[in-house]
Amino acid sequence: MAILLPGGAGFIGSHTAVELLQAGKEIVIIDNFSNSKPEVLKSIKTITGKDFPFYEMDYLDQEALEKVFKENKIEAVMNFAGYKAVGESVKKPIEYYTNNISGALVLLDTMRKYGCKTFIFSSSATVYGDSETIPITEECKTGGTTNPYGTTKLFIEQILKDIYVSDPTWDICILRYFNPIGAHESGLIGEAPQGIPNNLMPYIVRVANGTLPQLSVFGNDYDTPDGTGVRDYIHVVDLAKGHVLALNKLEKEKEGLYTYNLGTGKGYSVLDMVKAFEEATGQKVPYQIAPRRPGDIATCYADPKKAKEELGWEAEKTLADMCRDSWHFIVSQATLTKENQ
Ligand code: UFG
Repeated sequence: MAILLPGGAGFIGSHTAVELLQAGKEIVIIDNFSNSKPEVLKSIKTITGKDFPFYEMDYLDQEALEKVFKENKIEAVMNFAGYKAVGESVKKPIEYYTNNISGALVLLDTMRKYGCKTFIFSSSATVYGDSETIPITEECKTGGTTNPYGTTKLFIEQILKDIYVSDPTWDICILRYFNPIGAHESGLIGEAPQGIPNNLMPYIVRVANGTLPQLSVFGNDYDTPDGTGVRDYIHVVDLAKGHVLALNKLEKEKEGLYTYNLGTGKGYSVLDMVKAFEEATGQKVPYQIAPRRPGDIATCYADPKKAKEELGWEAEKTLADMCRDSWHFIVSQATLTKENQ
């Protein structure tokens, strides 16, 4: 029996693949490399010393997906194949709704057809919109998403709730990620966005290594301790471990729909992040204060109590670990690229 990972070569998918393999699970990865590279598969094998079947395909291709279900005994699916860039989603709503929502529907329909009803969904803190309550619990109101990316997460959550109402023999876990950063300590896998990054940590590491001249801090007039935006940054390896524990929970409980925040419960400002990065790596991060970025909120951090109580999951890595591992990954990648030239 294996866990199917659409998008398993991507940032969160690859780290979860490693944790699943290290927990003794079998996996099958499908990916079309739209935002990842084939080398990642080799890195997963190097880190774990384990092999797994891989299919290069689009998860919207139902015929190809059925072949995967026919050729493997799939017991559960974790979907990492969603598009995730907020700004891009505003420019390409049709692509985002098609890939994220139609993709999820094709996947769920195929699962149903093959009697596989265990699904772990990569949702996001973005479903809370600009929450009135901080820290954010799973009970907080959802809705008010400000971009198509966030709306796809909200809609898929609703689709999963409707599926569960129609057939309560499904086992579904919705994981609401806060801000995943960091990389595997080996430096072999990490976040490798194409082009100029939108997110803070990938931007910081590229300023530190001289690829980008300086960081723009988007707004210093928010109602936060230093005026800059506050977020709950979580190490991607901690996040990946949350998936293994969620799967264990679904295997144990059988039949249910669960929702958990995966965050640390601590909020750090943009300037905290710059300082933490400089201290952890010894690299300078020049920055300038810039206007607010449209759609940003002041503060967003989790109350992670429910995941601790019900999954036995808690983030273990520190902010210094996150900064060091993000930096180690980009330095390792540069070394690899040079060696291959
Ligand atoms: N920021 C800067 N400069 C940059 C990039 C970001 O100052 O160059 C600031 C932002 O204004 C924000 C903070 O850094 O205050 C974090 O921004 P990110 O873009 O890294 O992350 P967001 O919180 O905006 O969004 C992330 C994910 C989304 C997810 C959301 C959930 O990108 O997918 O968290 O809260 F939906």
